[in-house]
Amino acid sequence: MNSHVSQLVDFLRFPSISTDKAHADDVSACGEWLFQKFRAMGLAAEVHGTPGHPIVVARTARTEPRANRRTVLIYGHYDVQPVDPLELWNSPPFEPHISDDGIITARGASDNKGQIFAHILGIEEALAKTDGNLPVDVIFLVEGEEEIGSPNLAHFLRTNREALRCDVIVISDTGMIARGWPTLTYSLRGIGSLEIKVSGPAMDLHSGIYGGAVLNPIAALARLLSSLHDENGRVAVDGFYDEVAPLQAWEKETWAKLPTDDARIRELTGAPKLFGEAGFSAVERIWARPTLEINGIGGGYQGEGTKTVIPREAFAKLTFRLVPNQRPQQVVKQVQSHLARVAAQMPAVRVEFSGGHTGEPFLTDPHSVNGQAAQRALHRVFGKEKEIALIREGGSIPILQDFKEILCPEILLLGLAMPDCRAHSPNETFLLENFEAGIRLNQALLEELAR
Ligand code: BES
Ligand code: MN
Repeated sequence: MNSHVSQLVDFLRFPSISTDKAHADDVSACGEWLFQKFRAMGLAAEVHGTPGHPIVVARTARTEPRANRRTVLIYGHYDVQPVDPLELWNSPPFEPHISDDGIITARGASDNKGQIFAHILGIEEALAKTDGNLPVDVIFLVEGEEEIGSPNLAHFLRTNREALRCDVIVISDTGMIARGWPTLTYSLRGIGSLEIKVSGPAMDLHSGIYGGAVLNPIAALARLLSSLHDENGRVAVDGFYDEVAPLQAWEKETWAKLPTDDARIRELTGAPKLFGEAGFSAVERIWARPTLEINGIGGGYQGEGTKTVIPREAFAKLTFRLVPNQRPQQVVKQVQSHLARVAAQMPAVRVEFSGGHTGEPFLTDPHSVNGQAAQRALHRVFGKEKEIALIREGGSIPILQDFKEILCPEILLLGLAMPDCRAHSPNETFLLENFEAGIRLNQALLEELAR
């Protein structure tokens, strides 16, 4: 384990922040490091340049005709989210810190370097144990743009469809419901996005000289944003819920028995009280109900003290989390026409919209043949007596839809991240016990998938 952890530390040291142009070289260097790791393991590895960040592909040598063996594609990402606010980190985000109780803290520890690296080391160990004769063929596909919506991956999948042909796709980029609870995720929410820009006067104005003469763009933006929800948190956009598939009865019952509840989720969030659509538990709202979030807002003076100004513009960034059977493009249109209608009542400002990335919701059957193989593997690693948590999750992996359409519809999501891992937040963590479990899970899974 010592060598495993020290290699993970090396991987985590790269500040591979995909959204920040200033870190483009760090992202490439991290991809190059992975490529070298795959080569050192004896895999045939390649780095594929894209208009954005590189894609790293590695494969085990095929020893028999494809017809006689299954091919497992393991997908993950080596890019990470930005680290701000930096001052809230207890240790520098790219100098991994390991505590006495086996928790490693660094940006990307859970999302996704720790999880994908467990699979890589799992294969390395399996190759050594079997003298290179794995029970299945393995392809690693590790990208550097997941956190910015995988803008170049679908094209890569289309142009390399033959080389990436596989029977099942395995991904560990999701969560584990609680410590020691084997977890299989069978659904993720989709995503849609919209940015709003409100502009008024041609320049920032003195609010004494002109206040009273023009509509303040921030006030107009506030009116637009407050029209999006009712006071109980339900989205007030016409048609927003039309296509939402209701929860199945077995889901409500099964989820009620999981080791999480409203009290636990309140504690994890640190909010004074939970809030959201009436009639659903917090888990139900996160996993199976759509939401509309305001992710960022700006305009006017943000510095210390006061500045008496009417800003020339204001903006807000929205994303929606969508569930089966909502269609992201259609929801973006619905939200935009709702906002355009409210904007039409305010001719004293100009309102513009721009769309961002979208991703379809994902839903699969946890009891499929491959789902059962995954469950057997989880039992082998976490203990026969353990009940497997079959869960949905609220996060999104938009590329799953392209995987389904272009490569293969069989997708297994086996998460190792804890609910309190602080993905995307300061002090992101990963449990070393899950790192070790992930290495064993990889091997058990390949054996079960080969059966
Ligand atoms: N690993 C997450 C997705 C995730 C988080 C799945 C929690 C299940 C539970 C992934 O790296 C991620 O953050 N995805 C983004 C996608 C977005 C950038 C299009 C997300 O969900 O915000
Ligand atoms: Mn993420």
